[in-house]
Amino acid sequence: MIARGIMLGPDQPMILHLLDIEPASSSLEAVKMELQDSAFPLLKGVIATTNVVEACKDVNIVIMIGGFPRIAGMERKDVMSKNVVIYKAQASALERYASDDCKVLVVANPANTNALILKEFAPSIPEENITCLTRLDHNRALAQLADKLSVPVSSVKNVIVWGNHSSTQYPDTNHATVSTKTGDRPLKELVTDHNWLKNEFIVEVQQRGAAVLRARKQSSAFSAAGAACDHIRDWFLGTPKGTWVSMGVCSDGSYGIPPGLVYSFPVICEKGSWKIVQGLSIDEFSREKMDDSARELAEEKDLAYSCLNV
Ligand code: LMR
Repeated sequence: MIARGIMLGPDQPMILHLLDIEPASSSLEAVKMELQDSAFPLLKGVIATTNVVEACKDVNIVIMIGGFPRIAGMERKDVMSKNVVIYKAQASALERYASDDCKVLVVANPANTNALILKEFAPSIPEENITCLTRLDHNRALAQLADKLSVPVSSVKNVIVWGNHSSTQYPDTNHATVSTKTGDRPLKELVTDHNWLKNEFIVEVQQRGAAVLRARKQSSAFSAAGAACDHIRDWFLGTPKGTWVSMGVCSDGSYGIPPGLVYSFPVICEKGSWKIVQGLSIDEFSREKMDDSARELAEEKDLAYSCLNV
C-alpha cells in the first residue's frame, strides 16, 4: 500500500527501510524481492535489515508494527512487559539515528503505552511527533454506523474515539454527522435508537479487535494496515475540510485528560501538524467513559514503568 502511493499520495517517491528480527530474516529478504519484482514506480529503494541502526538511519516516517504479538486468550496487559522493553530500546535507536523531523506512528499493542515509553525514552524527538493508532477504531465506528443507517461509509463523519486502543476506548457519536441530500445532519437525529448507540454500538467497536482475533486466531491485519495509511496520509497531507479524525497523541490537558498520557482525541491535521479539536460539549455519560479510559492508561503507565524497573 505504501509503495503504491496509498499512504503518501501518487507523487511521493520513497525508500522503504524494513526491520525485523534475525529469525525472520529469510522472510524479510523475500519481502524485499517481491517489492522489487512489483516494479512500483514510486519505490526508489528497499533496505531490509535486522540491524536497528541501519533501519533507523535518516528515516522520516516510522511505523512501528513490530512487537510481541497478542495470542488468543491474552489480555493486552499480558504483552506489556515484553513490548515496553522493545520500545525503550527502539527509542534510543530512533533518537540517535532517525532524521531530526521524524514522525512516528505506533501500531503494536499496547499502542498508547508503547508510544508513551517511546516518547519518554526519546526526549529529543518532539512529543507531537509521536502518535499511536486509533484510526482503526475510528474506521470501525464509521462502518458500524453506516451499516446501521444503510448509507455509504463515506457519508458518516466526525465520530470520536477517546482514550486507549483497548476495550475501555470510548467511541462517541455525539458530534457525528451524516451527509444527506439536504445537507449534513446530526447522526443522533437519524439513529433514533439512542439505547443502541450507548450500549451495543460502543461494545461492538470496543470488542471488534478481539472478535477478529478470535475468528482468525491472529490480530487484524489489512484493516490495521489501511488505518495506518489513513493516519499517516491525513497527518501529512491534511484532514479534509470540516472533518476530524481520531489519533492517539500526547495529552496537553485538553478535556481534562492528564497531560503526558498518550490518549486518543479528535484532531484536525494540516501540513504535517495535528491539533486537538477544542470546545466540544461533553455530557456526563461521555465524561465518565473518557475518565475510565484515562485511568486505565495511567495504570498501564505505572505497569510499564514497573516492567522496566525504573
Ligand atoms: C485490533 O484492534 O484489531 C488489535 O489491536 C487487536 C489486538 O489487540 O491485537
